[in-house]
Amino acid sequence: MNIRDYINQKKKEILIRQLTSDSFRDFFEKNESRIRTMLTYYECAIMQIETKFNVLNQEFSLSREYSPIETIKSRLKTMDSLIEKVNRYGIPLSVESIERNIEDIAGIRVICGFPEDIYTVADCFLQQDDVTLLDCKDYNKNPKKNGYRSLHLIVTVPIFLEHEKRDMKVEVQLRTIAMDFWASLEHKLKYKKELPAEISDRLVDELTRCANISADLDMKMQSIRRQLSCSQSEIDEAVDLREWM
Ligand code: GTP
Ligand code: MG
Repeated sequence: MNIRDYINQKKKEILIRQLTSDSFRDFFEKNESRIRTMLTYYECAIMQIETKFNVLNQEFSLSREYSPIETIKSRLKTMDSLIEKVNRYGIPLSVESIERNIEDIAGIRVICGFPEDIYTVADCFLQQDDVTLLDCKDYNKNPKKNGYRSLHLIVTVPIFLEHEKRDMKVEVQLRTIAMDFWASLEHKLKYKKELPAEISDRLVDELTRCANISADLDMKMQSIRRQLSCSQSEIDEAVDLREWM
């Protein structure tokens, strides 16, 4: 951890201490072990879902001779960030209510090459009979005002423990490389609180324009990919025909 990250981490800890009331802190202190166990279950759900996407990608690379998924990233919410969110949304203080109300304790980001790959991969994933879709937000078809694009799915997936089976909620974000590149830059801007308003407003506008250029590029590259794969299938057909004759 570099010095800047360390300072930010400490600032966050102090903020959490200031923000939270005694009863709030009591709850987290008394239930720390239960919450840590819960976080471990979410970690298992992440492993399950990551494997599902890896399996799909392997199969695609055999059947279609290309891999739609470029990268899979995952993250488990930290205890601090969980406390901050429970506090921000005023979620009732019980482990059950946290599990019910917070949908992104486990998060997986699936990064694809092209926009249509997002839907191909999402459809195959959602067809699996142990995956249940709870919510879907398509910020690709309906981008946010700032230009943010991604497909968000909230799903449950079972994990099998020694004595029980548990359905765990996971947030899956599917996006292209370009969408991911944009989102990480925009995320940096969101956390630059010390920027003067006029600079930050200008950067927000520039980023929105970049999001549109980037979406345009995604579509153009997809069109080239389609044309290439069409010509490849025409070549393959011609070769087949020659062999047959
Ligand atoms: P949360 O309280 O953040 O969970 O809000 P929400 O339930 O309305 O969720 P939403 O599906 O809109 O966004 C959840 C996640 O998507 C965020 O934690 C980010 O990872 C990502 N996201 C959503 N909007 C943006 C955005 O405008 N910019 C960036 N960089 N990421 C975003
Ligand atoms: Mg959310």
